[in-house]
Amino acid sequence: MDTLLPERVPDDALPEFARAVNRHFHEGEGDEDVQPYLDAFATDYRAWWVRDRGRVAGNLGVIETRISLPGGSRLPVAAITAVGVAQTMRRRGLLTTLMDACLAEAREHEEPLAALFASESAIYGRYGFGMAAEHRAYNAERLRIAFRDPVDVRVVEETTAVAARDAWPAIRDRLSDRRGACVDNSPGMWHLGLTVDPPGWRDGATARRLVQVPGRGYASYRVKGADGALLPAGEVRVSEVFATDAEAYAALWQHLLDVDLTTRVTTWLRPIDDALPHLLTDPLALHAAEGPPLYARILDVPRVLTARGYVTSGSATIEVVDPGGSAGGRWYLDVGDEVACEPTDAAPDVTLSIGSLAGVVFGSLRPSTLVDAGRLDEHRPGAADGLGRLFSVDRAPWCPVEF
Ligand SMILES: CC(C)(COP(=O)(O)OP(=O)(O)OC[C@H]1O[C@@H](n2cnc3c(N)ncnc32)[C@H](O)[C@@H]1OP(=O)(O)O)[C@@H](O)C(=O)NCCC(=O)NCCS
Repeated sequence: MDTLLPERVPDDALPEFARAVNRHFHEGEGDEDVQPYLDAFATDYRAWWVRDRGRVAGNLGVIETRISLPGGSRLPVAAITAVGVAQTMRRRGLLTTLMDACLAEAREHEEPLAALFASESAIYGRYGFGMAAEHRAYNAERLRIAFRDPVDVRVVEETTAVAARDAWPAIRDRLSDRRGACVDNSPGMWHLGLTVDPPGWRDGATARRLVQVPGRGYASYRVKGADGALLPAGEVRVSEVFATDAEAYAALWQHLLDVDLTTRVTTWLRPIDDALPHLLTDPLALHAAEGPPLYARILDVPRVLTARGYVTSGSATIEVVDPGGSAGGRWYLDVGDEVACEPTDAAPDVTLSIGSLAGVVFGSLRPSTLVDAGRLDEHRPGAADGLGRLFSVDRAPWCPVEF
C-alpha cells in the first residue's frame, strides 16, 4: 500500500496528476481535457499529490507568481489551485497534509504569501487564510441599463488572442500598481485565459471574444444564445474587463451591455468599489451579489508589512496569533519616511489572528469590524481605529482572474 504522505509529483507523472485534478472536479480526463493544463503549467508550477494503492487520492498545485500589495509593490506568492480529494478519501485529513506540505515548501522558497480562491468559504480559515479581496458578481438586466452620459463606443475594437497576449499584460500591470491582491497572471494563466478555448470549456456559448481600447483597456467575454426562446434572450458572460481610464472603461462596458440578441450580462469578479454603478442611471439593474473572494495566507509578517505602502505615517505594536503555523509573533511597525517592522516584547496595541491580519493588510477588512465581531482584541482604547487609519487603502483590493 502506498504511503499517504504528500509528495511532489515527478515531471513524467504530470499527465496522471492533471487527470486526477479533472476527475476530482468532475471534468473530463481525456487527452484533450488535460493537455491545455499540461502546456500551461509546464513551468512555474509545483504539483503535489497523495497516492493510495496506486491511485491519486488527493492533489494540489501551486502557481509561482506575484501578488500586489496596497501601494503597488509586488511579492512572490504561492497561488494555490487544483485542490481535490477523491470522493472515497474525503474527511481523512488529506487536504490538511497537502496544505501543510505546500505551505512549508512556500516558506522554503521564501514566498511570504499564499493565496487561493475557495469553492467553499468555510474550508481554509483553519489553515490561516483570511479574506484578502471581496468581489461582486453582476447579473445585469441589460435592457434596463442606461448610461448617465453619452459614451463613445467607437474607441473599442476587436483583437486576437495573439495580439492580446502581447498587449494586455502591460495594461493589467497598471491594475496591480493601483490595487492590492491582484495576482499576476503567470504565462500559463495568460495561455489558458486567451489562447486555449476548446468547445468543452464554453458551456454552449461562443468562443471567447476579445475587445480592447488599445493601450488603455480590454474585455474578454462569451455570448450564450437562448435555446428555443421566441424573443432574443441571450446572455453575455464577461470573464474580465479592466481599463486604466474612465473613457475606456465606460466604452468597454457600453460594448458589453449592448450586444444584440441578449438580455442579460453576467460576471463575477468585480471589485467592491467598481466605477460601473456610478456610470449608470439605475445601478440596481446590475443585481450585484457576493462574488468569490480571494483568500491570502501570510507566511512572513515583517516582509509583508514592510513591502506594503501606507498613505499615512504612524506606528503600532501588533500581536499575531498563528496556532497552525509559524508566522505568529509580536511586532512593532513604524511607518515614516521608511517602514520598519521589528520583533518586540512590548505590550501589544492589538491582538489578531494571522487570517484577520491578511484582511487588514490588503484593505478588505477594517480593524473596527474585527473588534465588533470579537476577532480583534484592543489593548488600549482607540487602538483598532488607529490601526484602521494606518492600513487604509485608496482603492479596494481586487483579483480579477480566478486560478
Ligand atoms: C474540499 C476538499 C479538498 C477537502 O478535502 P479533505 O481531504 O476531505 O479535507 P480534510 O479531511 O483534510 O479536512 C480538513 C478540515 O476541513 C474540513 N472540511 C473539509 N471540507 C469541507 C467543506 N467542504 N466545508 C467545510 N469544512 C470542510 C474538515 O471537516 C476538516 O476539519 P477539521 O480539521 O476541523 O476536522 C474535498 O472535499 C474535495 O476535493 N472537494 C471537491 C473539490 C473542491 O471543492 N476543491 C476545493 C477547491 S478550492
